[in-house]
Amino acid sequence: MNGSGMANTNLSAAKKAKKDEFYTQLGDINAELRHYAHHFEGKVVFCNCDDPYESNFFKYFAANFNALKLKRLIATCYAGSPIAGQQLELDFGDCATLTASPSEIWSYRTSSPADPLFGRDERPAHPKIPHKIVINEVTDANGDGRIDLADVEWLIRNGRNVLTKLKGDGDFRSKECVELLKESDIVVTNPPFSLFREYVAQLVQYNKKFLIIGNLNAMHYKEIFSLFRDNRMWLGASIHSGDRKFTVPDTYSLDAAGCGIDDNGQRFIRVKGVRWFTNLDYKKRHDEFIYIRKYQPADYPRYENLDAIDVSESKAIPEDWDGLMGVPDTFLDIYNPDQFEIVGLGAGDLAKEIGVTKNFRGRTDVALKINGKDKCPYSRIIIRRKK
Ligand SMILES: C[S@@+](CC[C@H](N)C(=O)[O-])C[C@H]1O[C@@H](n2cnc3c(N)ncnc32)[C@H](O)[C@@H]1O
Repeated sequence: MNGSGMANTNLSAAKKAKKDEFYTQLGDINAELRHYAHHFEGKVVFCNCDDPYESNFFKYFAANFNALKLKRLIATCYAGSPIAGQQLELDFGDCATLTASPSEIWSYRTSSPADPLFGRDERPAHPKIPHKIVINEVTDANGDGRIDLADVEWLIRNGRNVLTKLKGDGDFRSKECVELLKESDIVVTNPPFSLFREYVAQLVQYNKKFLIIGNLNAMHYKEIFSLFRDNRMWLGASIHSGDRKFTVPDTYSLDAAGCGIDDNGQRFIRVKGVRWFTNLDYKKRHDEFIYIRKYQPADYPRYENLDAIDVSESKAIPEDWDGLMGVPDTFLDIYNPDQFEIVGLGAGDLAKEIGVTKNFRGRTDVALKINGKDKCPYSRIIIRRKK
């Protein structure tokens, strides 16, 4: 298996084991967020799967609070988040607005009970105490020219900003987190992969704007695909190929190719198929798709069980075919809603809805006959050109 395949296997294993601790790189966040600056003025941003001491989402918005003209930034930390080690150095002791005691904020296994906050070489015995941080004001930076944990500590020394212990476990579905969601305008995070479907459903239920990172495979879920079809969600601007690096806790094994330990001693894995999912519009989404092919019957076989042609690569969409076409999932990377309409999926219940009949396997997946042999192409989205 090649490196990317192994990274995908790693991700599936993580999903099964509910290993959700993949931390997004600041560079990836910067590269995406620069396409949306105009959406944020006067808005309340909520990072609801984010320990402010670890999350680069929180750090990004704290650092750009004034530049984006944010009204408020809220982050909530889930009980399950293990910590990455460096946070053990932090002392919350003299934060005026801290409503949980320092010893409540972090629980440590330590051989030295007299020094519970600075057990430097110890791993946490328990998950973190779930908490929220609310940033209403960011005044002068502390002047060291970089974003680090000291900045978070410094932010909560400002009397208008508050660090508070949550009543529950910080689950994004909990009542108190849903209340925070209701008062927010835009949710930006990397939610737990194992709960992606549920996570998106909640955003839709509360009619929120969002920009979240996940895996392209999620589009196969019926509920997620329907949002793409109805132009209520689309892929973001910056990631359309390759893999992305995520840091992981020390407890994660690094047995896949492409994983490793960086210069700071931080473990990381590389994951293929990563994409941003959003309902915030951006300019590049309307870039015209330039056709390079014309329809030739020999190049575009017709499906046996749907009146449509098969287009094996999105870049080969013919400019002169007006009917339905089946294209690979990566069509979503070039999808311009001004030029194309997403009609449905080429497999499963959604395929049935658009008239795909049972194939040689007795399933409603689009099927082809190539040189007399029955074949189902891997995953197709059914589209048509807009006139
Ligand atoms: C993929 S990680 C991303 C962390 C962070 N947002 C980032 O990108 O660096 C998902 C985070 O969601 C947290 N999480 C898991 N289940 C959760 C839940 N039910 N509610 C809220 N957060 C949860 C995990 O502890 C983990 O820190």
